Amino acid sequence: MKRSEVNHKIKEAVDFIEQMNFKLPPFAYWGPEEWKTKGSEYDEIRDNMLGWDITDFGSGDFENIGLLLFTIRNGNLNNDKYIKTYAEKILIVEEEQVTPLHFHWNKMEDIINRGGGNLMVQVYNSTEDEELADTPVEISMDGRVCTVDAGTVLRITPGESITLPVGQYHKFWGEKGTGKVLIGEVSMVNDDNADNRFYEQTGRFSDIEEDEAPLYVLGNEYSTVK
Ligand SMILES: [Fe+2]
Repeated sequence: MKRSEVNHKIKEAVDFIEQMNFKLPPFAYWGPEEWKTKGSEYDEIRDNMLGWDITDFGSGDFENIGLLLFTIRNGNLNNDKYIKTYAEKILIVEEEQVTPLHFHWNKMEDIINRGGGNLMVQVYNSTEDEELADTPVEISMDGRVCTVDAGTVLRITPGESITLPVGQYHKFWGEKGTGKVLIGEVSMVNDDNADNRFYEQTGRFSDIEEDEAPLYVLGNEYSTVK
């Protein structure tokens, strides 16, 4: 992705999040120059990759296959200095913009529609060799359990949520004609470097082409700002 596109998409996200009356912590708005003034007292943000995250999953086509996120809090499975066992993110999903089919080996997560359009979530169980199972899928949505066929697409309307257990494949996008969606994610500790099993070969972090100066620092870029 081009840096100009990253800047533009994050600016749009800031506007949308404000419009939805959700508030981000102060570090959401710090650019590279401000980050240079922040010392080791902010290492939790750097070490646990909190903050902005934008990806086209290696597709080169962010509008159709992509996701914009902000990690608000997280623990760290590789550093026992951090004792949080939980994580929280906010995600922005456009109409028909797909996050490809994947599951997590360790992280159980709740995906919550915080407002805007409807979120569509397709679910499958995985087999032992990490393929798609054709077995019925047990679903838990806001305190109600039910069983659906493999590959069922569920509609999550504003206020509703779905629990995704480990090993359950999920793919999601915003429903056409309903507007972009503000999604909350409440989960166990998140490790995007090692805990995503994508069904198809996919990149998790995008390479950025520097065509203008960055307005924001992404969660995987703190080491480049000194
Ligand atoms: Fe997931």
